[in-house]
Amino acid sequence: MAYTVPKLTDYSEEALDKAAAQLLSEFEKERSAVTADQLKTFRDRWFARKNGILTQVNEIWLKRAPKEHKAEVGRRVNEIRDRVEPYKDSRVINESLGLSISADVKSTAEVKERLDITLPGIRRPLGAEHPIIKTMNQMVSVFRNLGYSVEEGPEIETDYYNFESLNFPPNHPARDTQDTLFIAGQESKPLRDRLLLRTHTSPVQIRTMEKMRPPVRVVCPGKVHRNDAPDATHSPIFHQIEGLAVDTNITFCDLKGTLDHAMKAFFGSSVKTRFYPSFFPFTEPSADVQISCIFCGGKGYRDGGRCPQCKASGWIELLGCGMVDPNVYGFVDYDPKKFSGFAFGMGVDRIAILKYGVDDIQLFFQGDVRFLEQFG
Ligand code: PHE
Repeated sequence: MAYTVPKLTDYSEEALDKAAAQLLSEFEKERSAVTADQLKTFRDRWFARKNGILTQVNEIWLKRAPKEHKAEVGRRVNEIRDRVEPYKDSRVINESLGLSISADVKSTAEVKERLDITLPGIRRPLGAEHPIIKTMNQMVSVFRNLGYSVEEGPEIETDYYNFESLNFPPNHPARDTQDTLFIAGQESKPLRDRLLLRTHTSPVQIRTMEKMRPPVRVVCPGKVHRNDAPDATHSPIFHQIEGLAVDTNITFCDLKGTLDHAMKAFFGSSVKTRFYPSFFPFTEPSADVQISCIFCGGKGYRDGGRCPQCKASGWIELLGCGMVDPNVYGFVDYDPKKFSGFAFGMGVDRIAILKYGVDDIQLFFQGDVRFLEQFG
């Protein structure tokens, strides 16, 4: 009588071993006796997705096993699968046929050469854009629509581009706010040539102005680094988009209008913006831009309590900006009497966190597909 998968009633080690051994010996028996024209029936009997013996073992043994015996049953089911599954591959079974059926050598050879198109293929899951890249692209396209083009720069920068040309003189305390990793063993080089992981995308401003005369309108997306211990809101690696517009007669009004438009394009037309005095060595005056809290609508409270996202202030700080400091033009040979401009820099990760309601920045970098799939 043909073998059928028995129900398990006894979960002792010996009984499980016996059930597994019986199944395997049955498989060996059938496999070595199979002839070329029985091949399909044999494969269906063991491997059919719907009701093949392997599937039944899963259903009848593993799924029905009581919790405390699951691991033991699972181990045996895995062993069985390891032993049996290679024969799912038509080449393996054909080879074994060639060895075990000497009387039917000719038809075996034919079987060997026939391409079996009945087996299910290997499904390759489609990937999706990472939420950071997706957010970056969306932000960039808001600025593209305003006529900006895209520039990129190196992630390993010189001290000159990351600090000096942006008006951070050597030993200036403003450098402390952007502590980073320096490449070791460069003491013999002049400070300005020493390499470091860039702390912001602002060096791309300088690189752009070195190669382009005004009018300049660029956005520069990219990865940046700081010496920050990772926690729910900090990461030593994060992403920024820099913006730079230089032309004749550019004023703070242009800066305000541009960023107000960008925030509305991104977070919805009811969002308000507020410019708060700040300091960056390369812009003067400088401001931090805050948007009205998108969680409580700027009220500061919701669901009968304080709004945790804006800490009840009604505002969320999002980016830094300002009018390009005339000193910076000195480094790139622009005439500060002729040209003026503004710059801004925003954190992409932070914007993605707000937009998607993510509660831990680390999730972006851990590569857990259960998280990433949600953005597919
Ligand atoms: N580079 C600044 C930072 O990372 C942000 C900024 C960019 C501020 C451009 C003003 C102008 O903190």
